[in-house]
Amino acid sequence: MEFRLVVLILLVLTMGVAAEYIRPPPRKMIHFPWKPKPSSYPQQVHISLAGDKHMRISWITSDKHAPSIVEYGTSPRNYSFKAQGESTSYSYLLYSSGLIHQTVIGPLEHGTLYFYRCGGKGTELQLKTPPSQFPVTFAVAGDLGQTGWTKSTLDHIDQCRYDVHLLPGDLSYADYIQHRWDTFGELVQPLASARPWMVTQGNHEKENVPLIIDSFRSYNSRWKMPYEESGSSSNLYYSFDVAGVHVIMLGSYTDYDQYSDQYSWLKSDLSMVDRERTPWLLALFHAPWYNSNEAHQGEGDDMMAAMEPLLHAASVDVIFAGHVHAYERSKRVYNGKVDHCGAVHITIGDGGNGEGLARKYLDPQPDWSVFREASFGHGEFKVLNSTHAFWSWHRNDDDEPVKSDEIWITSLLGSGCVAAKSHELRKILLEP
Ligand SMILES: [Fe+2]
Repeated sequence: MEFRLVVLILLVLTMGVAAEYIRPPPRKMIHFPWKPKPSSYPQQVHISLAGDKHMRISWITSDKHAPSIVEYGTSPRNYSFKAQGESTSYSYLLYSSGLIHQTVIGPLEHGTLYFYRCGGKGTELQLKTPPSQFPVTFAVAGDLGQTGWTKSTLDHIDQCRYDVHLLPGDLSYADYIQHRWDTFGELVQPLASARPWMVTQGNHEKENVPLIIDSFRSYNSRWKMPYEESGSSSNLYYSFDVAGVHVIMLGSYTDYDQYSDQYSWLKSDLSMVDRERTPWLLALFHAPWYNSNEAHQGEGDDMMAAMEPLLHAASVDVIFAGHVHAYERSKRVYNGKVDHCGAVHITIGDGGNGEGLARKYLDPQPDWSVFREASFGHGEFKVLNSTHAFWSWHRNDDDEPVKSDEIWITSLLGSGCVAAKSHELRKILLEP
């Protein structure tokens, strides 16, 4: 009897210990050894979607006269196609960037592996174009930075079979020290040169110096997104289609009120969305609207007041944000309350940056908040068909990715909300 009691007590103690997640300590900035390369050697290669069946290839050379050409084809070392692009550079106080090349290639076949080489030199790289139809998978991680935890997050994303990476702001944490943009470019190249990385700006991209340097100089020069292809006049907001998903990237740090260019563009973009062709509608921006962490409380409120009615009328399915260095998922919500036609809000600013985690939460947990945890990690959003998608969040549990939150999400098209709200959307779109 006594023996059984001891075993029972031990079992309860063991279960208690196993249930509590012991969060590992922060990791340091990664230091990159200086490896000199020929000045015309392509570095920091990353790719992004650039309109239907096209991809933008970006890279940097130290040589200010290196050509902006990309050779590509569907078999190794056999480049049937060649595209000519353009280049730019920028200066930032005493720093002068290398030559930043941007070359659009295509038309490309969907769901196809391409082999390519930048500038007629360097190593051959591979990229895979997204599929034309469901299923399609997005990897999602914001606030990356360049620490040991960033490396861990990137390694986990690399293990996932994804088609497109979505990044809701705060990329390099260069924070005015420009060569950190270069080390970040090198750190992400293995992933960002193989799958399109679609990013929007965070507060760490601003880097303005009053009267001398405008906001986003480095970000806009290095991470050109398909804004022209989506009818926008600013690299800070744009949209794109992947398979049956329309993705809207918004700017938390540029004007968003109803008289702003961003708001007019958003109305115009939403007026062209065809839910027969793209049943799923996603939006991303940096500062979250639904956040029960003590960090950055209320910072998204003004943008939410300006834009939430429009996004709600348009039946946006899921909204991803960053900024708060933790993970949180909401129920479908609108105007601060649970609403079956509202968006699911997911804060995923836990990519691994050096500022550490945001550990304090408001108590009690709001009704709309389902899951919240201060750990580094990444998310995977797998859209299976026009009505069902599977979301999972993977915590960096030491060096293993551990699935810690998961849920099936049904589309607002499938639940009838898109049809029910079409009149309301038309009314807002017609407002001057
Ligand atoms: Fe941020």
